[in-house]
Amino acid sequence: PATTRDRLRVAIQKSGRLAEPARDLLASCGLTWRESRDRLFCYGESLPVDLLLVRDDDIPGLIADGVCDLGIVGRNVLVENDLARQHDGGTSALKEWRQLGWGVCRLDIAINDDEQWTGPEQLAGQRIATSFPRTLSRWLSDKGVSAEVVTLSGSVEIAPRLGQADVVCDLVSTGGTLAANSLKPVETLLHSEAVIAGPVAALEDGREEIADLLLRRMDGALRLKE
Ligand code: PRP
Ligand code: ZN
Ligand code: MG
Repeated sequence: PATTRDRLRVAIQKSGRLAEPARDLLASCGLTWRESRDRLFCYGESLPVDLLLVRDDDIPGLIADGVCDLGIVGRNVLVENDLARQHDGGTSALKEWRQLGWGVCRLDIAINDDEQWTGPEQLAGQRIATSFPRTLSRWLSDKGVSAEVVTLSGSVEIAPRLGQADVVCDLVSTGGTLAANSLKPVETLLHSEAVIAGPVAALEDGREEIADLLLRRMDGALRLKE
């Protein structure tokens, strides 16, 4: 992160569940912006705060590498990325600067809805499909259970029907996707919500002041919504 910049750069999801609420939150802080033609970059007009529109899974890496200063992302993405860094021998680069109270979901284990659940030991030797292999592996080892983690980037809930896995470990919001796939949640690994992610260390240059201003306005906007 040896970059010198006098504007703050915030990474948000380009499309998906957090995309619109993230833009709404920034707009409620008085931020107006001009979109680039490719719609991947928004230049801040009212404040020196620019937006980068990316895949949510890329947000932690962009902040860790110093390409972006802050990000609006689900805790689930942050935790998974942090565990991957630790697995590779690194230390935590990011922390939650704010909890936003929306984008609430759980990372759950789900099994076929006609099966009985007796506890985590039931997963021994089973194949578990997930997009969060590190979070799942840590939970399994905490429980002392040895199972096969099958990593999929999406559509995890259909893996049992396709014969790719026996059970799944995926995000549950309304529960509609699980129900549509004849699955039921039985254990919760993580409670998630949207957060402001930022570096563990303080920002440099004038960016710290800009971030302070933005976060103060954000706190005000979040308080108004309560
Ligand atoms: C998320 C998540 C679940 C679903 C849960 O998927 O992975 O599949 O939403 O929401 P529900 O409980 O309200 O049904 P998303 O639609 O973001 O797509 P993805 O799995 O391809 O990321
Ligand atoms: Zn994603
Ligand atoms: Mg999904």
